[in-house]
Amino acid sequence: MQFLSSIQCDEPVPPSILSFPSMMSKDEKSLLYWLARSYYRGEGAIVDAGLFLGASTEAFSIGLKNNPSAYAAVRDGLKKPIHAYDIAIWAGAGFDKYLEQPETQRALNGATFKEGDNYFPVLQRLLEPHLDLIDFRIGDIVKLARADGPIEIAFYDCLKNYERDLAAFNALVPHYIPGHTVVIQQDYFFEAALENKIRQEFLSPYFSFLGAVDTSGVFRLEREIPTEYFKEDPVKWLSVDDQVRLLKNAAARVPFSKVSLYTELSVVALLIQHNRIDEADAYLAGIEKVIAETEKLPLRPGIVAASMRKLIEVRVK
Ligand SMILES: C[S@@+](CC[C@H](N)C(=O)[O-])C[C@H]1O[C@@H](n2cnc3c(N)ncnc32)[C@H](O)[C@@H]1O
Repeated sequence: MQFLSSIQCDEPVPPSILSFPSMMSKDEKSLLYWLARSYYRGEGAIVDAGLFLGASTEAFSIGLKNNPSAYAAVRDGLKKPIHAYDIAIWAGAGFDKYLEQPETQRALNGATFKEGDNYFPVLQRLLEPHLDLIDFRIGDIVKLARADGPIEIAFYDCLKNYERDLAAFNALVPHYIPGHTVVIQQDYFFEAALENKIRQEFLSPYFSFLGAVDTSGVFRLEREIPTEYFKEDPVKWLSVDDQVRLLKNAAARVPFSKVSLYTELSVVALLIQHNRIDEADAYLAGIEKVIAETEKLPLRPGIVAASMRKLIEVRVK
């Protein structure tokens, strides 16, 4: 990714970032570190939305501290620069498997959680060295999303439905800086978070695509978004055909790989959602054929495709 090499220095990414428990890859955590370390100017906020245990926050905080001019600009200010959003309620279906990872066990000292537990105290403990930089916004981002000034970097890993995506768009995007604000959509090259991809692709005349790191898509706002888009959602009434076209555009941003297949599978998910089962069936059959014919592909694209095949079969019965 050319943009990433433009902000990377020779120094290594601090090990505490790479070993922080997370659903993200080491490369994704490194991207966030480099953005705060080399790109952030200290003139606005870093939106950090979707923390789980705080890996993104750790990466942004250390990056900022290793960025002398930006750190000097924010250190003595009244506002904390990292706006960290999470609902912080344990959701076993998505979270429990991470309890088995050695880095999670080390960080949590063997603590475990039950469905519905509030884990904000743990987040605070894990991020204790950086509390001077973090403005926690704990609760539903739909209610809490707000900007107190310009936003330089926006990382999203919780906009998994229309309501959350729209709330973040209306509250935060008007505060992006044309020509500067970088947006990281962590769920971009993935089969879920459809609305978020559809909106980002719809807005492509205003953004440039800087590249992909694993499932993260990285964009920069290049020109002002029309203000009427914040009054009436331009995405809400798009036809299903238009939404399909936008999801295919998202998939085409990356070369053929497991992540392009995940994004292609999001088209199938959308068609199933809209009960267009014959089209979903045909599109999935094309993906299944490609998966079957590709050597050395990891297992996951086939697993996701098989789960979508089951959904289609249930609808057909
Ligand atoms: C995929 S996880 C984030 C993973 C994290 N970025 C990491 O590196 O491990 C999604 C996060 O969104 C949070 N979340 C879910 N619903 C939310 C909501 N309505 N508002 C804010 N955060 C929410 C979850 O608690 C969870 O931590």
